[in-house]
Amino acid sequence: MPSPVRSAVLARSFAGKWALVTGASAGIGEALALDLAASGAHLVLTARRVERLEALAARVRADYGVESRVVPADLALPEAPRQLYEATEGAGLPIDILINNAGFGYLGKFEKGSLDWDRKMVDLNCAAVVHLTHLFLPRMIERKRGHIMIVASTASFQPVPYMATYAATKAFDRFLSEALAAEVRPHGVNVSALCPGPTESEFGQVAGVRKDFFRGSQTAELVARKGLLALVAGEPESLPAFSGAATVFFTRFLPRNAVTGLVEKIFRKSGAV
Ligand SMILES: NC(=O)c1ccc[n+]([C@@H]2O[C@H](COP(=O)([O-])OP(=O)(O)OC[C@H]3O[C@@H](n4cnc5c(N)ncnc54)[C@H](OP(=O)(O)O)[C@@H]3O)[C@@H](O)[C@H]2O)c1
Repeated sequence: MPSPVRSAVLARSFAGKWALVTGASAGIGEALALDLAASGAHLVLTARRVERLEALAARVRADYGVESRVVPADLALPEAPRQLYEATEGAGLPIDILINNAGFGYLGKFEKGSLDWDRKMVDLNCAAVVHLTHLFLPRMIERKRGHIMIVASTASFQPVPYMATYAATKAFDRFLSEALAAEVRPHGVNVSALCPGPTESEFGQVAGVRKDFFRGSQTAELVARKGLLALVAGEPESLPAFSGAATVFFTRFLPRNAVTGLVEKIFRKSGAV
């Protein structure tokens, strides 16, 4: 049960504003969309699976009385961010909240993975985030208000053997987000990197992670709520899982190659790869 005080904090920032949520058809993106709608935000929902987006759009209209639109897009394609912009801000719909959430990973030996899959990961997890942020940020700065979330990961804090490309894309996302946060705060725009640890969603299935490997996962709802609270509080990053925050804190005191070696051993010995 979400705290009413915290819900009021979100409503104060989001009610009546339009939010664009990428990757809204599942997992963390769907949870972010629902929490934004519960806070009174109108939604533009995007991903590739249209039926799921339509169902979510109908649900938020019925449950929260907000407006919702569906703009399907494959964000791994270079033209997709511009098409999303033209369908929204470019058509006079002011997007005050941009949630860069769509993303996927791959667990396995680098040489066994597909080049096409890795390139798509970079296109979606990094290039689309840069592109969308470039398109939507200038109007936020003009209006002197806005919120941008970039969903990174606890995997952004160290190199992760067997998830090499994925962790590198998430490090990119976190660095981009933290730098932008400092740059645009004086213009009234908050930017925050949400860094979840293992979270219940379709991520593991897509990435080829065994179910039992994600034991102790957090719910997407909890992750979404913590990320949105950090965003409105102007915090440049949020680590929703206590265990993730503790690991990130303690590994700061260890040489990076020692941590990377340890992670390699854990993955190899667990039989996950
Ligand atoms: N779950 C975790 O343990 C975890 C941990 C840390 C960080 N994260 C990050 O959290 C974010 C959300 O992941 P999730 O856990 O919610 O995974 P998920 O349940 O698999 O959801 C991923 C979302 O991204 C969308 N997507 C995938 N490829 C796309 C494409 N080419 N174009 C447009 N949309 C696309 C999917 O929609 P369609 O398939 O309908 O297009 C879906 O809505 C990702 O950035 C992920 O890296 C997840």
